[in-house]
Amino acid sequence: MSQDNAKTVYLKDYQPPAFSVESVELTFSLFEEQCQVRSNLHIKRQHPGQLVLNGGQHAEVLRVEVNGELLHESGYRVSGEDWVIEAVPDEATLTVLTQLQPQNNTTLEGLYKSSSMYCTQCEAEGFRQITLYPDRPDVMSVFTTRIEADKALYPVLLSNGNLVEQGELENGRHFAVWHDPFRKPSYLFALVAGDLQHIEDSFTTMSGRAVTLRLYTEARNISKTEFAMGALQRSMKWDEEAYGREYDLDLFNIVAVDDFNMGAMENKSLNIFNSSCVLARADTTTDAGFQRIEAIVAHEYFHNWSGNRVTCRDWFQLSLKEGFTVFRDSQFSSDMGSAAVKRIEDVTLLRTAQFAEDAGPTSHPVRPDNYMEISNFYTLTIYEKGAEVVRMIHTLLGAELFRQGSDLYFERFDGQAVTCDDFVRCMEEVSGRDLTQFMRWYTQAGTPRLQVTDEYDAATGTYYLDVRQSCPATPGQEQKLPFHIPLAVGLLYPDGTEHHLQGDSTLVLDVTEAEQRFMFKGITQRPIPSLLRGFSAPVKLDYPYSREELSFLMSHDTDGFNRWEAGQRLAMAILQEQIGAIQAGEELEVDPALIAAFERVLDDTDLDYAVAAKVLTLPSEAYLAENAQVIDVEAIHQARRRVRKVLADALCARFRERYHATEPDGVYAFHGSSIGQRALNNLCLGYLLATEREEALELVRQQYAEADNMTDSMGALAAVVHSPFTTVADELLEQFYGRWSEDALVVNQWLSLQASVAGEGTLAKVQSLLQHAAFDWRNPNKVRSVLGAYGQSSVGFHRADGAGYEFLADQVIHLDPMNPQLASRMVTPLTRWRRYPAARQAQMRAALERIAAQPLSKDVYEIVSKSLA
Ligand code: TRP
Ligand code: ZN
Repeated sequence: MSQDNAKTVYLKDYQPPAFSVESVELTFSLFEEQCQVRSNLHIKRQHPGQLVLNGGQHAEVLRVEVNGELLHESGYRVSGEDWVIEAVPDEATLTVLTQLQPQNNTTLEGLYKSSSMYCTQCEAEGFRQITLYPDRPDVMSVFTTRIEADKALYPVLLSNGNLVEQGELENGRHFAVWHDPFRKPSYLFALVAGDLQHIEDSFTTMSGRAVTLRLYTEARNISKTEFAMGALQRSMKWDEEAYGREYDLDLFNIVAVDDFNMGAMENKSLNIFNSSCVLARADTTTDAGFQRIEAIVAHEYFHNWSGNRVTCRDWFQLSLKEGFTVFRDSQFSSDMGSAAVKRIEDVTLLRTAQFAEDAGPTSHPVRPDNYMEISNFYTLTIYEKGAEVVRMIHTLLGAELFRQGSDLYFERFDGQAVTCDDFVRCMEEVSGRDLTQFMRWYTQAGTPRLQVTDEYDAATGTYYLDVRQSCPATPGQEQKLPFHIPLAVGLLYPDGTEHHLQGDSTLVLDVTEAEQRFMFKGITQRPIPSLLRGFSAPVKLDYPYSREELSFLMSHDTDGFNRWEAGQRLAMAILQEQIGAIQAGEELEVDPALIAAFERVLDDTDLDYAVAAKVLTLPSEAYLAENAQVIDVEAIHQARRRVRKVLADALCARFRERYHATEPDGVYAFHGSSIGQRALNNLCLGYLLATEREEALELVRQQYAEADNMTDSMGALAAVVHSPFTTVADELLEQFYGRWSEDALVVNQWLSLQASVAGEGTLAKVQSLLQHAAFDWRNPNKVRSVLGAYGQSSVGFHRADGAGYEFLADQVIHLDPMNPQLASRMVTPLTRWRRYPAARQAQMRAALERIAAQPLSKDVYEIVSKSLA
């Protein structure tokens, strides 16, 4: 895999750009065979050095002029992906003429076609596929964009900012000119041209300005736009109230696009969304789908301040905008729904997927110090761990000071491209706290481990917590220095009352040393500690809890998150002991303590339904795998199945009661209590079917037949597809496809459900899905639904014969030339080979080596070479 272009870029080599671009005028002439782009750049020297323009690999450069004079071969040199222009006056106008074929662009970066429309994706380095440009986020410019296209085929022409002119041209063509008054980096540029319908609404900002809101889709999807419009209005209001941030233009557009590499993109005033992340209707979208859409709409909107008005100096600072914005959207989601459930979901994602990433070969700090391909760094570490880092600052400072720090940040750096240090500095300034050591969260990779023990001295009424921290080595970082960890704790007495620490039930300890002792006075009895409340830091915490203590905390902890966490710890201990028994070929009784705990939860009708559903969900196979020394996929799968079956059999009557008791009344509505009701209902249905009794199958059929919403249809369908009742599963799957074959987003759910089954037959199923009429290699949602889901299918993918690995390697090799960004994501499950037993390791390595032997994109090359190193 010789990759001459796979150069590593280092943070320490950062140099400010020699030239600024004061303003830029772009003209796009869109034709079916080819498109031409003319760009006028008004540049001005800021520092010594040469003018470096990126691009020229994808677009054909037809002509470059400097101040109207043709640039001759001697006037520039091409070095890798850069054009270095030798002699340029300190102020000049550059004209660049390029030609592209968007219809053949399968990378979905730069300018491309999705169904019948033109659209762009420029983050991170897609703009250079359109024209030569200093394509780096610290070059911010004022963009004016003229689009010319056939009027019948592309009646709608959109770009950033305000529409300043439009009109007719010859030959049935027309044009529109857009001007964006806010300076922005090229990665926020966007253009859309297509035959689109839209819905329109408005929002009046806190200073009384009316903003027009439009959501564009192809005609067939217009019935699915309303929910996202509401979500946008709620986001705009929330950002005013929670952060004092007002929208800054008179128009805000969202466009839904079917072919999209990621979730959505925050282009200034022209957000572009993957259809799957914006289109929703009760009959086609699950509750989880609605929640996801609301969160992504909010996320992209919030970027208008955290990302656009204040942007990143360079791509090493990506988490500056992404971590902060994920933190903001998670606060928003907490406020819109159940805060406890949102926290449980965020922590679950972090602990299964991000912790696994942090323990693998592509582990990197929240601020990486080097990369080959920046697209590979849109990771759970940058987004989710980055959000946890911001959340820890919030915990350390408290809400009020955090808000002051955020105000200072937005005010001081408005219109600038800045760094993570600039953000943290604002937090230090408003609070007077020294966050120097805290900055290690940005520079050191890996998940810290906290080992906590305690001691109680009855004679003096003193209680001690001893905390030891460590962090495993990660690639390129052998030794770690201690982190500054906010450890939120509470102390409970055996009678269920809580000791008040400094007047509060929760105290945040500053853990800063490798070993540290904390002392509590006036403690009248040996307490049970509630540790890491609300998951106050992204760490693994060990404390030798007994099962009785965990059962106690499940009922008595005043911290909602830790009540759930105690249940998870109890279930983990019991699952892990079952895994051990299965490996030893022994049969071990499932500890009745778990059954008793579940029974108490099922009997507690005061408990929020959505929370109850979370408490009654066993840790996933992925989480069990993440916590195993060596991942024994079969034993994990069998253990979890077994425990589920034992719980289901023992509590069958209770699950049936709760199932019937919480049957939703009336028609579907997407709001808090009915979401919780459906979650608990579907959870009960899943357990009932785990008994493998025919009567449960009848309930499933009935729910499937009567459902008026996708949450309940999918709940029933998923339950049976993951059960041993394969004949009924096939029957319902066929019925489902028959009903929804015309709706791509529903078909994607159907594909991914089948590909995720933990079973022998899944590989053959997945192979046949790739041949199915509904499959399309060019559509990332389809590829993710099949290959992405298959990679997560536990024993479906990790087969003893290694055929799953060979299959995935073949598909990655097939996909890479078409769409490197996507191919590079699909390879992830193979990169985790070090975690498996020797035989599996050899098979996974062999698959990776076969990929490595191919000519590869920079994207796949970086991931594969790092995972083989
Ligand atoms: N900035 C986008 C977000 O988080 C992420 C994104 C969208 C992206 N499309 C992309 C990143 C393509 C890399 C490539 O909201
Ligand atoms: Zn983002």
